[in-house]
Formats: sequence, structure tokens, C-alpha cells
Amino acid sequence: MEVVIVDTPESGGSLVAEAIVRLVARRPDATVGFATGSSPEPVYAALARRCIEEGVDLSRLRGFLLDEYVGLAPGDPRSYQAEIQRKVFERLGLPSDNLRAPDASAADLEAACASYEAAIAAAGGIDLQLLGVGSDGHIGFNEPTSSLGSRTRIKSLRQQTREDNARFFDDNVDVVPRHVLTQGIGTIRDARHLILVAWGSNKAEAVASCVEGPVTSMVPASALHLHPHATVVIDDAAARSLTLSDYFRRTWAAKPDWQYL
Ligand code: GLP
Repeated sequence: MEVVIVDTPESGGSLVAEAIVRLVARRPDATVGFATGSSPEPVYAALARRCIEEGVDLSRLRGFLLDEYVGLAPGDPRSYQAEIQRKVFERLGLPSDNLRAPDASAADLEAACASYEAAIAAAGGIDLQLLGVGSDGHIGFNEPTSSLGSRTRIKSLRQQTREDNARFFDDNVDVVPRHVLTQGIGTIRDARHLILVAWGSNKAEAVASCVEGPVTSMVPASALHLHPHATVVIDDAAARSLTLSDYFRRTWAAKPDWQYL
């Protein structure tokens, strides 16, 4: 696992956007797994700058959603599919058909999960999966105790996660869906490169458990240690509970430019 500590979320966003631009330069129809929430926003803002100001062409990129709420009407602006269409695809001028998502309004949700796994496999797997982390260490919607080998499936949310996400539902936790479809931790681990981003002191404990704690299903993000190419990009505040932050800073400062992430 590589840990990169940056000064600001904006510089972290630019760093990760550059990784996506380099990936697409190598493979124009690369597959990218998109995460929702506030953490990836600096990445999406930096990507938009690269597309609009520098004319970077991401039009053949194929996107896959990390997770989705069950119980929202198709097209509901609070759905994760609508969020990624808005924050990434419309903003970057990418074809909306290039985004795939698990069908959370299907009558048969188990079949929808199986067909989402099949769609990822048919695309050749995911090249780069972006991740945020919940305050309890969850990734996607894989709550603590999720199997580290799990596949896309239906999950029930913890009350803490529903409360954390109530800000997207007019601060009314009662209307935050109880069920979701999420890529499993095994699905996430199949991606060729994982990049987890986190900013701010409220993520410091989750980051420390992910980076320096034991690998445990109680901290789903700790499964990044089971991946051969996992990168954690965090700001100073999110790094404040790490005991090895000095080591991570020196290692990154001495890394040759050509290696990148
Ligand atoms: C939700 C999403 C996760 C995200 C987490 C943290 O639970 N399903 O993918 O990482 O929220 O969100 P934020 O980045 O807004 O703190």
C-alpha cells in the first residue's frame, strides 16, 4: 500500500486526476469505478479542469458505479447514478451511456447484482477504482463485518451510515434508504488499481485503521492491504492519527517522477 499525504484536498484531487488522465492516455476506453460522496469531489473538479481547459479527451472512458441506494425512483437526483452523471459525465461531456450501474429498481435484485458482476467482467474488469471511506471504515456500502471476499449484493445500512448520509436527504435520516446494492469487497479487490481518498480530521481514525490497523472485516477499508496496487491519498488532517506519517511523507518526496502512483 502506498500512502500519499498532500497539503490540501485540491492537490490530492489533481494528483488522482493525473492518474486517470495517464491511464486513459494508455488505454482510451479504460474502465474506471466511480465513488460518490464528498471525498472524490476534488478529483472530479480537477478532471473537469483537465478536460475543459486542456482539452483532455475522456469520451471513450467506461464508468462503473461503486454502489446504489435501493428504493429511490429511477432518475431520483439523490441516486448515486444521478450524482455521478451530474458530477462526472455531464460535467466532463462524456456520453451518459458509458456509465453502468447496478439496477437497484429491478424486481429481482439478486439477478441485478449478478448481471452487474457479469457486466464488469465483460468489460474486462475495472482498471482503476476510486474509493472514499466512511467514518466507520466502510468502502462502497460494505459495512463492518462484510466478507472480504464478497461480491455485488444487497446490504442493509448501519444507522451511523444513514445519519452520515442524511445531509443528502434534507437532514432527514428517516428518508435515507435502509438498503443498497454495493460492489463487494472481493469485487473491489479485483480492480487493477485502487485509489482511496480521504480529507479532514473526521476521517483520521478510519484512515489510521485502514492503513496501520490489522486487516479485519470490522474495517472494510483494511482490505486494501490484500491488494497488490492500492494507493491512499489523504490530507494532513486525515493523516493526523498515523504513527508512520513521517515515513510516508519522506517516501513520497523521494519517489522518482516516472513511477507516479
Ligand atoms: C457513502 C458511500 C461511500 C463513501 C462514503 C463516505 O457511504 N457509499 O462510497 O465513501 O459515503 O462519503 P464522504 O466522502 O461524503 O464522506
